[in-house]
Order: sequence, then structure tokens, then C-alpha cells
Amino acid sequence: MYYQLGSHAAEQTRLEIQAKLWGDAKYIQFSDTMNVCELGCGNGINLWIAEHLINGHYLGVDVQAEQIKAAKEKALLKGLKNVEFLVGNAANTSIASQWADLTFCRLVLVHNPRPIEVISEMVRITKPKGRILAIEPNNLSHIAYNKPYLNKCHHARVRYMYAQGKGTLDICSQLYHLFKCAGASHITIKQHPIYFDSREPKLLQELYAGWAIMLTTLKDELLKDNVITENDYEMAIKETEHINEGDSIYQCVWIAEGIILK
Ligand SMILES: C[S@@+](CC[C@H](N)C(=O)[O-])C[C@H]1O[C@@H](n2cnc3c(N)ncnc32)[C@H](O)[C@@H]1O
Repeated sequence: MYYQLGSHAAEQTRLEIQAKLWGDAKYIQFSDTMNVCELGCGNGINLWIAEHLINGHYLGVDVQAEQIKAAKEKALLKGLKNVEFLVGNAANTSIASQWADLTFCRLVLVHNPRPIEVISEMVRITKPKGRILAIEPNNLSHIAYNKPYLNKCHHARVRYMYAQGKGTLDICSQLYHLFKCAGASHITIKQHPIYFDSREPKLLQELYAGWAIMLTTLKDELLKDNVITENDYEMAIKETEHINEGDSIYQCVWIAEGIILK
């Protein structure tokens, strides 16, 4: 399993809100005739792309069958005819070589202990002169200066999960090297900072609520293995429930893009 947070309703909502507030999808550029492949598509958050592919196709892959079921339902509701979905591991798909003009993943490599395998598959799927793109969070940074318990729990959680081989903690700093090793050329790396503070309390509250959901999902495991204490957890949840003047959230996602010259 490559995603510890699962696919329960609260997690689905968290991902939707996060995508809306982070606004990083603007880096996924495509034209309406392209074949676009998304690895780790989740429940279809990025199906808006398929809506713009008037003469193109969208193909989504996810390892969680429930996510693909939800994505299919979403596509049906949107009346999309140019979409296809596969349940499977992004590191080893049944997609034909050189099918896509653009292959991308968003918040996926960070959950994989061997991201090079996923990036190599992106390269295989992509046509000559096509592009690969990955959007990944920098989980090493401090997230909320005025919320010490939230920070403590966040860092304890990510370090513990990654130490267990459930992902790649420093994925951002590896992106250039990994893209190069996988065979991409003309690689660019951009950073997209995400900052909200108490001047936008509603939005900040939504983001804090997302952190609470993540922590609650993994609470039993984290307490069982003494990664955090019950007090750490309770204090962190309390911190997410109140917005005080000066509270903020800072995160950064990195966007790696490369061209495939085969
Ligand atoms: C944080 S969610 C991101 C979903 C979506 N890409 C988005 O932009 O919100 C990560 C998704 O990647 C999927 N995933 C992670 N590793 C995968 C792998 N090796 N193969 C297929 N899916 C994977 C998970 O099942 C999960 O749905």
C-alpha cells in the first residue's frame, strides 16, 4: 500500500480543499488535443483536465480500487467520454509505451519508497518530445509557527512513516536527480509557496482541519509506537480548532518538469 491516509470521506474532502487552496495545478499545462496520463489520480481531483481535452484523452491510474471507483463516478457525473481509469501500481502499469503527450503525478512520489520506479514508468509512457511533470510537497519545512504541538506531531509523523519505508521524505531535493536518471531532458524545478494567515481565518481553519484529519487517521498507530503522546495529540487537535491573531500556515510544493527526447 502506497498511501497511509486511505480513502475515507474526510480524507477525500481534505484532498479536495487542499487542491483548491494550494492552487498548484496551474503548473500542469496541456493543450486540448493531448493524451494526458495521471499516475496516482486518487478520486479524480484533476479530472478538470479531461474537461478541457476536447480532442484528447485522460487516463488515470491509482493503486486504491476505491479511489478509482470514486473517480469513475465523478467522470460519469461530469459526462466525460474521453476518460479511462486503471487500478494498479504507478511503477508498473499496463499502459502502452509512448501513449501520452503529458504524464504527471501530484503528491504521489512522496508516498513511494522508490520514486525512481514511478518516474521511469512516466518516461516509458510518454511520447518522444512529450513531457513529464511531478508536483511534490516539501515535508521537511515547518508548517505552523504558532502551533508547536501541530508541528511536533507533523514532523514526528512524517519521519516515522518514512523511516518505515512508506515514502521518500526529502523527495523535493531529489527531483532533479531522479528526473535526470530516468532519462528526462531540459529539466526545470519551480517552487510554489503556500501561505495563509489569520487575515483569512476561514481558509486557515480549513487547512488546519486538514492537518487534524491526517493526524486522527494515523493516531492509533502513532500512539501505539510512542511516536507521539496522547497529550501531544490532544494539544495538536486543540491548536487546529482555534485561529488566533498571527496564526499561519506555510508549506511549499516543488514542481519538476522534463522533456522526453527518445
Ligand atoms: C495525496 S493523494 C493525491 C491524489 C491526487 N493526485 C491529487 O492531486 O490530489 C496520493 C494518491 O496517490 C496514490 N498512489 C500513491 N502511490 C501510488 C502508486 N505507487 N501507484 C498508484 N497510486 C499511488 C494513492 O493511492 C493516492 O490516491
